[in-house]
Amino acid sequence: MNKSIDVPSIKSQGYEQLLSYYLEELGKVGTSEVGLCRRPFTADYEKAAQMVATWMREHGLEVRKDEVGNVIGRIEGTNSQVKVIATGSHLDTVRGGGKYDGMLGVVGGVIAAGYLLKNYGQPEHSIEVIAFTGEEGSRFGGFLGSKWMAGALGEKDINSKDEKGISVKEAATALGYNLSEELIAVRKDIEAFLELHIEQGPVLEAAGCPIGIVSAITGMRQAEVIVHGRTDHAGTTPLNMRQDALLSAVKIIKALDACVRQSGGDTVFTVGQIDANPGSVNVVAERCAFTIDLRDPDPSKLSGLYEKCLEEARTQAAQAGVKIDWQEILTVEPVPCSVRLRETLAAAAKTVGLDCQPIVSGAGHDALMMAEIAAVGMVFVPSAGGRSHCSEEYTPADQCLAGVCVLAEAVRQLAYN
Ligand code: GLV
Ligand code: MN
Ligand code: MN
Repeated sequence: MNKSIDVPSIKSQGYEQLLSYYLEELGKVGTSEVGLCRRPFTADYEKAAQMVATWMREHGLEVRKDEVGNVIGRIEGTNSQVKVIATGSHLDTVRGGGKYDGMLGVVGGVIAAGYLLKNYGQPEHSIEVIAFTGEEGSRFGGFLGSKWMAGALGEKDINSKDEKGISVKEAATALGYNLSEELIAVRKDIEAFLELHIEQGPVLEAAGCPIGIVSAITGMRQAEVIVHGRTDHAGTTPLNMRQDALLSAVKIIKALDACVRQSGGDTVFTVGQIDANPGSVNVVAERCAFTIDLRDPDPSKLSGLYEKCLEEARTQAAQAGVKIDWQEILTVEPVPCSVRLRETLAAAAKTVGLDCQPIVSGAGHDALMMAEIAAVGMVFVPSAGGRSHCSEEYTPADQCLAGVCVLAEAVRQLAYN
């Protein structure tokens, strides 16, 4: 086997500056009032994808785009009988997001692949770096790119609409992609998928540990709840004669939060979006829509609690005299990472001289979907102050590079003979 990754050599070849440069450049695309807002199938998103494709080519990767806009950079292996070793993450952001979530895994993958090609030559297994479309669900449902690759993007996803009534298919077609149910093809040629990501929480920083090796990725249930009340005059309708959709939504949300807190353990619950109509200061709301996001790494606890929340919402609505529609948006089962890849990543961290610790991911990742078709592993680097999904998201360049070194060494161990 070739000599392992030499961290000083990565630094002396200028890769740390290059990594910072790539993150900074991507961080200029899709700026919003606060932080970044780069949603799939928009001009900003396409610009970022184009930049990544150019960087991939500069490192000697062959680039293609698939039907959903995933950018795939490839180094052809010497042995066509063995499967692909893939890495990557997503290029979209939440509204008001930071510069690292997703992007680190994309540009870190480009740098790891470029470094390996330059210093170790052609691998035995083909290596792919993938920039996935639409993981965050900030315009349509989440995981568009990785679901597509895993053959899990169904008709319902493709026809789902954004807030302006534009469907995934229409948005993709407008940019020249050929997205249709008939074309869905499952990739069967990927052996392993490794995703480098910021932790997005405070654990590694508090432990003073540079590298987290993910043991499992949380499961998620997301739903949109619409409360239907009655619009009335805010001054003339006595409080006990109203069907106030907004106030009922607040009561439901408080009851759901209490229900989750009582269950204890690792479960988390968030209402991140709420919208009332007609939305006037002096009108009782007729309709109030809100989202729920429920997560737990234990599948039976997650589904039990989800059902309990649905029941609780119905009870609260009946008490308040309003009706509710509850529509599930996303169901993702928790995924344990591959034991073999966890061992490979831990060995890689040791080889490059970095401490590591196991960690559970409370965030969803493209690796969740890729687990349908390949063994998956994830490397985390610390997030300053545990902040993420906000403009304050930050990881110092040397800590980002540490993650790239572990990723590169693990890819080297898997792809080179
Ligand atoms: C994606 O970042 C998620 O965890 O929602
Ligand atoms: Mn992410
Ligand atoms: Mn995210």
